[in-house]
Amino acid sequence: MAAASKTTGEGWSSRRAFVLAAIGSAVGLGNMWRFPAEAGANGGGAFVMFYLLCVLLIGLPVLLSEVVIGRHGQSNAPESVRRVAEESGKSTGWALLADIGVLGAFMVLSFYCVVGGWVLYYIGVFLGDIFTTGIVGGAFQGRDPAEVEALLPALFGNGALMLGLHVAFLAITFFFVARGVSGGIEWVATWLMPAFFILFVAITFYGAFTGGFDEAVSYLFTVDFSALTGPVMLAAVGQAFFSLSLGVAGMMTYGAYVGRDVNLAGTSGIIAAADSAVALLAGLCIFPIVFAAGLEANAGPGLMFQSLPRAFQDIPFGSVIGLLFFVMVFFAALTSSISLLEAPTAWFKDRFRMPRPIATGIVAGGAMVLGGFAAWFFGQPVPVVSGIALFDGQDVFSVLDTATSRILMPIGAIMTSLFVGWVASRRLIDSENGLSGGLHHTWLFLVRWACPLALVVILIVGIFPSIV
Ligand code: PFF
Repeated sequence: MAAASKTTGEGWSSRRAFVLAAIGSAVGLGNMWRFPAEAGANGGGAFVMFYLLCVLLIGLPVLLSEVVIGRHGQSNAPESVRRVAEESGKSTGWALLADIGVLGAFMVLSFYCVVGGWVLYYIGVFLGDIFTTGIVGGAFQGRDPAEVEALLPALFGNGALMLGLHVAFLAITFFFVARGVSGGIEWVATWLMPAFFILFVAITFYGAFTGGFDEAVSYLFTVDFSALTGPVMLAAVGQAFFSLSLGVAGMMTYGAYVGRDVNLAGTSGIIAAADSAVALLAGLCIFPIVFAAGLEANAGPGLMFQSLPRAFQDIPFGSVIGLLFFVMVFFAALTSSISLLEAPTAWFKDRFRMPRPIATGIVAGGAMVLGGFAAWFFGQPVPVVSGIALFDGQDVFSVLDTATSRILMPIGAIMTSLFVGWVASRRLIDSENGLSGGLHHTWLFLVRWACPLALVVILIVGIFPSIV
């Protein structure tokens, strides 16, 4: 089945390619880095349970809505929304929802590639370690644990290195997106996602024998309802969104390349299930290793980049396992950054009728500059936003993260669910979504009521955190 979008002439060569690319978009730093850190910082089991609930009741319905719009519109995200609105006899002003999304994707891309750069750095660190101390025994032999943990702050203090790594990661992303949907994006997804899964299962299996597995299982799955506070719930919803790549036009863009014979509801279910399974397994991969080394779960963002390398000191073949771990994270991050670059690229390409490589270059160039600021001035508060409570004291990196996850992503998702639930023609949506009977009614109820209401609360609390 070759499915080329009517507008772009591009498309996935098969359903499998779409599933892999969409899972590739969903599975990324959000699963491997953010999920364990958030779960650890928010008390474990209660967060995990609420996160799964959010994926099912909010994430999945919005995901299906995004791909439905994309496939029907067969174009870049704003144009797809415009077409669906026009065919439904409604205002094409709704395209604004996807314009916001495209902007959001560009902003996420900018800081995402900075973190991608850190992953490249650790690949280099473990490679260097293999060459200097060999593969037998733990990683970083003869080095003080504090020295290993100090690698991350040292990197953060080196603006030029951070910038270089960011540009390198972005350049790799550019290379594949410039080659097109079936030639570049699909190629990466079909090779790297299976490679990712093999490495992932192998390392998790290894982690199961390091001694901390039982502790990790009870940490992640013992639910203490009293721990379910407002901030914990908020963190869980935000994580579900980020992880499923929602609210920033990414899934809408990928939906435009899907063939008509693909059942979108079933496929969205597979994507959400795979993404959640990887997040849970990431917990079961990272925490046993961390616990076995006697380290704390609540190390936050430093969990993957500080605690884990430190934990690799104590395990056999630590440097090889460490290298494989970061290569695996690199694969996951790359397939996500590709989807982040693709959403604005598709828009530029269609809007200004440009050849794909030029459109890709313009977007990547912009992200290089914006992310470049985030990398170079990492840790330095931005003076212009200091008066705004939400951003007070944050550096460029955190401003981008906060602005997208707390504002743009919820707004994009609220508008998507309202648009699909209330504005677009029922006949049109129902002919795309692949649902029938009770499931269809449930989905409609969720996109009409549950998602917008829950998301409005999230948006308000996200902007005014002092409420909870
Ligand atoms: N879902 C990705 C992750 O979990 O790392 C991040 C992401 C990719 C967010 C693509 C948004 C997006 F459009």
